[in-house]
Amino acid sequence: MLASGTGSILKAVLDAGVPVSVVLADRPCRALELASLAGVETVLLDRRDFGGFGAGFDRARYTEALTGELAGRDLDLVAMAGFGTVLTEQVHEVFPGRILNTHPSLLPAFPGWHAVADALAAGVRTTGCTVHAATPEVDAGPVLAREEVPVYPDDTEETLHERIKQVERRLYPDTILRVLGELEPVEPTRA
Ligand code: GRF
Repeated sequence: MLASGTGSILKAVLDAGVPVSVVLADRPCRALELASLAGVETVLLDRRDFGGFGAGFDRARYTEALTGELAGRDLDLVAMAGFGTVLTEQVHEVFPGRILNTHPSLLPAFPGWHAVADALAAGVRTTGCTVHAATPEVDAGPVLAREEVPVYPDDTEETLHERIKQVERRLYPDTILRVLGELEPVEPTRA
């Protein structure tokens, strides 16, 4: 899994019993600590070693390094959960259709890093979350699951995001398990 933040979605995926072989982060973050606590291998591929967060960031070289880390492992899927670096096409060429993402809006509405704030600013009464197969275009790609979440008049970005994340913590593991099941049909048990 790829993560950058507090890792609450990652934790939900682990708690649901999804077999996770490695957690890779682009910066030191709580998600890496949670993975370590769960006994999962962690990789910190720090953006600061690739030019940081400004214009000097070498996205191609970062993607190449990340793809190298993942390609050496026998992975069925790559699941992003709040991963804060946009990757180039290279990773999609190595894992075509095998990279999943969860996004805190009903895509195609409100793509991008500020989806929750954008939904609030637009005054919508319903937003939600979308689990989709990732493509080189950010927050696009075939939708695998979507669920609505109400917006309340007194919501802040924090309260609304937490309400959305409560749904993501169920919907994302369920969808990952469904996709894994479709990739590897379970053999019927013999009597
Ligand atoms: C989730 O809302 C995810 O959709 C978004 O970042 C958030 C990650 O939350 N891309 P957490 O760090 O797992 O709590």
